[in-house]
Amino acid sequence: MKKAAIIGAGRLGTTLGYSLSQQGFHITAASCRSIPSARESVDIIGEGTPVTDNKKAVKNAETVILSVPDDSIKDVVKELSPLDLNKKFIFHCSGILSSRILLPLRKSGAVTASLHPVQSFPKKSRNPGLFKHIYFGIEGDEEALPLAKILVKKLGGRSFILEPDDKPLYHTACTIASNYLTVLMGLSESLLEKAGVSKKLRIKILLPLVKGTLDNIERNSVSGSLTGPVSRGDLETLTSHLKCLEAHPSLLRLYKDLAAQALEIAGKEKHLPPNKIRKIKALLE
Ligand SMILES: NC(=O)c1ccc[n+]([C@@H]2O[C@H](COP(=O)([O-])OP(=O)(O)OC[C@H]3O[C@@H](n4cnc5c(N)ncnc54)[C@H](OP(=O)(O)O)[C@@H]3O)[C@@H](O)[C@H]2O)c1
Repeated sequence: MKKAAIIGAGRLGTTLGYSLSQQGFHITAASCRSIPSARESVDIIGEGTPVTDNKKAVKNAETVILSVPDDSIKDVVKELSPLDLNKKFIFHCSGILSSRILLPLRKSGAVTASLHPVQSFPKKSRNPGLFKHIYFGIEGDEEALPLAKILVKKLGGRSFILEPDDKPLYHTACTIASNYLTVLMGLSESLLEKAGVSKKLRIKILLPLVKGTLDNIERNSVSGSLTGPVSRGDLETLTSHLKCLEAHPSLLRLYKDLAAQALEIAGKEKHLPPNKIRKIKALLE
């Protein structure tokens, strides 16, 4: 199982290829849409043949990692399904799609699963640390799951089993936590700009606050870490926030929606008296 090909050697595929090669796997090929991109990936991985022909890429591989964009998985499956894939292990890395999309490959003899790292990979990288202690959502054929677990363990990660039908919800959760945290940082940064804070300082000011919040969540829980005007029931502060956002209607709407969610969380902690909860709800309408 140690001869592995990467089809879609982009940000995740290349990082995965490098880390697997460090763990004793032999990367036989890295396939991309363009040859310069495949060459770049092979340089980073340190071995393998750069190709644009996916059929050629799988030829000598026992394990195949499909890390093409989600929208391209179907096309690659169609391309590979006429081949004899007898007992090749084929994994895709999409968080939202289940392994059912690999069914045509199963029919051609492959053993298939999906294997999704809950981490973001912003560039092709030689940093195996990105996989350490992270979680991988896996699901697929019974025969594929033991190898999926071994791969994850070799990378220093931890796996957990998902139901195929739960993947869209699971992926939405990951997207909210990662991508929309970035969006929230962007919005905070733009408000600091309006408040006259220099470009150099904006993110620097916010980072210790956000890291402290994440530390609190790690130590306590989400509900035990919520601070701020909603959790304290500070109506005047909340009114003042809403007022300064009046000139930015879409931000005001988002703020009110997030504050309503904060109220749900604060309500569970039962610190706020019912009359405060009522007044906050009225402000957020
Ligand atoms: N990046 C992340 O943070 C992350 C995290 C978890 C899971 N994932 C999953 O990993 C998969 C890949 O995501 P990514 O962000 O790594 O994408 P990416 O950086 O855009 O890389 C995609 C790679 O696929 C290649 N490619 C596209 N169509 C192809 C085809 N038909 N045949 C062969 N290669 C093809 C591209 O070639 P060119 O370089 O020539 O364009 C590129 O190298 C997706 O399923 C995504 O959901 C990504």
